[in-house]
Amino acid sequence: MEIYRATIKDLSELKQLEAVCFDDVHENFEYVLTSENHLYFYILDAKNHICAYIGASISLDESELLYICVSENYRGKGYAKELFLKLINELKLRNVNKLFLEVNENNTAAINLYKKIGFTLINKRRNYYGNETALVMLKNL
Ligand SMILES: CC(C)(COP(=O)(O)OP(=O)(O)OC[C@H]1O[C@@H](n2cnc3c(N)ncnc32)[C@H](O)[C@@H]1OP(=O)(O)O)[C@@H](O)C(=O)NCCC(=O)NCCS
Repeated sequence: MEIYRATIKDLSELKQLEAVCFDDVHENFEYVLTSENHLYFYILDAKNHICAYIGASISLDESELLYICVSENYRGKGYAKELFLKLINELKLRNVNKLFLEVNENNTAAINLYKKIGFTLINKRRNYYGNETALVMLKNL
C-alpha cells in the first residue's frame, strides 16, 4: 500500500476528511503541513482522494500523535495500522524514541487500535474532553 507524506497541496482534501471524521476539530493544517516538526501521512482511494491520514508533532526525541482518521467506508481494512507503521518508521529515522498520545476513554475503536500497535496506559487526565477523561498512552520506539 502506498503511503504519501502530506504537503500544503493536500490542504483542502485533508480539511474535507477532517470535517467528516471529527465534528469539533479544526487543525491548523496551514501550519503543520509546512512545519519541520510535524509529520502527516495519507492513503489515497481508487479515485485518488485522501481516505485516511495520520499526523504527529516532534519535539527533540519525543513525538505526540495529533490525529488519525480513516474515512468511514474504508475502516476495518488495516489502513490505520499501515499509517502507524509508516509514522513509526519515519520517527525512528529521526531518532525519536517515544510516541505519546491522548485518547477519549470512550473511543473504544481508537483505544483498541493503540493497544494493538503496542501503546500502554501511563496516565489519565480527568475532564480533558469536557467532562470526559483522556487516557495518556505511550509507545517506546
Ligand atoms: C480509530 C480508527 C482510526 C481506526 O481505523 P481503521 O483503519 O478502521 O483501523 P484498522 O483497520 O487499522 O484496525 C486496527 C485495529 O484497531 C482496532 N479497531 C479498529 N476499529 C475498531 C472498532 N470499530 N471497534 C473495535 N476495535 C477496532 C482493532 O483492534 C483492529 O485490529 P484487528 O483488525 O486486528 O481487530 C477509525 O475508526 C477512525 O478514523 N475513527 C474516527 C477518528 C478517531 O476517533 N480517531 C482517533 C482519535 S484522533
